[in-house]
Formats: sequence, structure tokens, C-alpha cells
Amino acid sequence: MIVITTPTGQIGREVLARVLDADDGATPVRVIVRDPARLSPEVRGRVEAVQGSHADPAVLKEACEGADRIFWLVPPTPGAASVEGHFRTFTEPLCEVVGGRGVERVVSVSTLGRGVAEHAGPISASLAMDEAIAATGVHYRALCPPSLMENLLRQTASIRAEGVWSEALERDRVVRTCAVRDVAAEAARLLLDGSWTGYEDVPLVGPDALTPEDMAGVVSEVLERPVRLRQITVGELRTRLTGFGASEAWARGVADMVHAQNTQGFYGVTRPSTPDTAPTSFRRWCEEVLKPAVHG
Ligand SMILES: NC(=O)c1ccc[n+]([C@@H]2O[C@H](COP(=O)([O-])OP(=O)(O)OC[C@H]3O[C@@H](n4cnc5c(N)ncnc54)[C@H](OP(=O)(O)O)[C@@H]3O)[C@@H](O)[C@H]2O)c1
Repeated sequence: MIVITTPTGQIGREVLARVLDADDGATPVRVIVRDPARLSPEVRGRVEAVQGSHADPAVLKEACEGADRIFWLVPPTPGAASVEGHFRTFTEPLCEVVGGRGVERVVSVSTLGRGVAEHAGPISASLAMDEAIAATGVHYRALCPPSLMENLLRQTASIRAEGVWSEALERDRVVRTCAVRDVAAEAARLLLDGSWTGYEDVPLVGPDALTPEDMAGVVSEVLERPVRLRQITVGELRTRLTGFGASEAWARGVADMVHAQNTQGFYGVTRPSTPDTAPTSFRRWCEEVLKPAVHG
């Protein structure tokens, strides 16, 4: 039995689809979902659903009964009162469950940056999560992407309306990227493979070494119209996030994360590409995902 968290999120939804496609029903799948109506009828018919949040110890225990593998993702939650507290609220019940039940393998979404990132908000909290999970002794794979290409989808409206995207990452500093489809493919592969043991990070670094300015060039070519960056400061980003309803603590955490990315280089040019686990180029992603989103 495989348990999948966040089956309605952009990563979890695709992990679930890939596990169902690849395994064709051979391994039963259970999902933890706050609102089962958000699953498609086709998916609802193929999985068992436990309703609730995976931060709730009782829900997690119920979902893990008889399960040996779990896909684990701590959701981004801008209303959270503390970034570290938010990650702990999810991770502590998981550590209890994998310590006491039959769960043998955990595959989670973490981040690049181990050993380098400091005071990096959700990145530091994710890396601490890995250490807590690994310390239980469960077999563990931490998927470690850098910046997700899908972050750009948040800017679809302003790209469409004004040909502009706002960016707090430095425009002339390389930022390595990865597409959600590659994170999901590797997660599904690991969930369906019962042979790996121990704890390893799995870097997922796409083939490009582009700066945000270079990316705007690729976006302009693919959309066949000029798209330019509007550089904003980390302070402006923080103000925008609270304006959209984020807590002060979450906005500060994201600002710390971007400042750390700009100054510490852990998503940067020195990180080698991993063609086996992250083959999708930024241009291909723009053609297949961004372009339809902007035109739709
Ligand atoms: N963005 C990046 O560049 C980047 C880089 C490295 C790592 N990451 C990591 O990638 C992950 C992002 O995942 P994603 O893009 O798939 O997120 P997403 O699309 O925002 O999906 C969030 C999912 O979590 C569920 N959820 C939200 N709040 C919840 C709660 N309180 N309890 C239970 N479920 C809840 C949502 O379900 P509902 O349908 O119930 O709302 C949804 O299924 C994060 O862990 C982040 O740290 C991101």
C-alpha cells in the first residue's frame, strides 16, 4: 500500500497520476485529502481516500495503517504563524508514525542546499525536516530540486497583460531550475521500487544554467513577444506577500529564502545538472506549460 499526501497539489497530483499509470492497480493507493471532491471522479474510483490533513496525527495514523510506503510533502502555507513551526507540525506526526508502524520507505519533496543554505526560511525548514525523518531510521529519499519552473506560473497574468514578470532573485545570477513533471516522475519511480535502502538526497537539477534575464529572453522567444523582468527588492517581495495575506513570519521566511539564494549560491551555477532525474529544459517547459497557460 502506497500513501500519497497532497494529491490535489501541483506535485502530488502528478505523482499520483504517474503511480496509477505505471502500476495499473497492482499496488493499492491511499490518499490523504482535505476535500475528496477536489479529486477527479476517475482518480476517486481508483484510490482509497482518508479525509483530513496529514498534519493531524490521527488522520496520518489511519492513512498509514497497513501501508509500507509514503509520498510526503509539507504544503506551502502562507498563513502559518511560523515557518519552522509549520514544518515541525507536519513532520513530528510523520516521525511518530514511521517509528511505530509498518511504513518502510518515505519519499519526500525537499530542496537543494544541504550544508550550504543558512537562514533560508522554508529551505532551512525543509532540510531540518529531512534530518528528523532520516533520524527515525526509515528508508528515506529526499528529492532535492532547486527553483521550480512552475513558480513562473504565478506571473502568468502580468506576463499576459503587460509582458512583465517581477523578480526578487538577482537578474544576472544563474538560478538552476527543475520542472514539476521531473520531480513527480522520480517520486513515482522511487515509490514503485521496493529495493532501495538507507537515506539519500536525490538532486533534481535541470539542464539549463540561466539567469532570470536569460529566462526572460527564452520566454520572449517562445511567446513571440517581448517579456521583460521588473527587478524588485527582497523588502518589496515581503510587502507584496503580506499584501496578499501571508503572515509576517511567512513573508519574512520567503524573503530570507530569496536573500539566501541571492547570496549563498546553493541554487547556482556550480550545481551540476542531473540529466537522468531532471531532463526537462526551461525552453521545453515554456513551450509545453507556460505558453498554453499564458494563451489560455
Ligand atoms: N517552489 C519552489 O521553487 C520549490 C523548490 C524546492 C522545493 N519546493 C517544495 O515543493 C513543495 C511545493 O509543493 P506544491 O507545489 O505541490 O504545492 P501546492 O501546489 O501549493 O499544493 C499544496 C497541496 O497541499 C495541500 N494542503 C495545503 N494546506 C494543507 C494543510 N494544512 N493540510 C493538508 N494539506 C494541505 C493542498 O490541498 P488542498 O486541495 O486541500 O488545498 C495541495 O494538495 C513544498 O514542500 C516546497 O517546500 C518548492
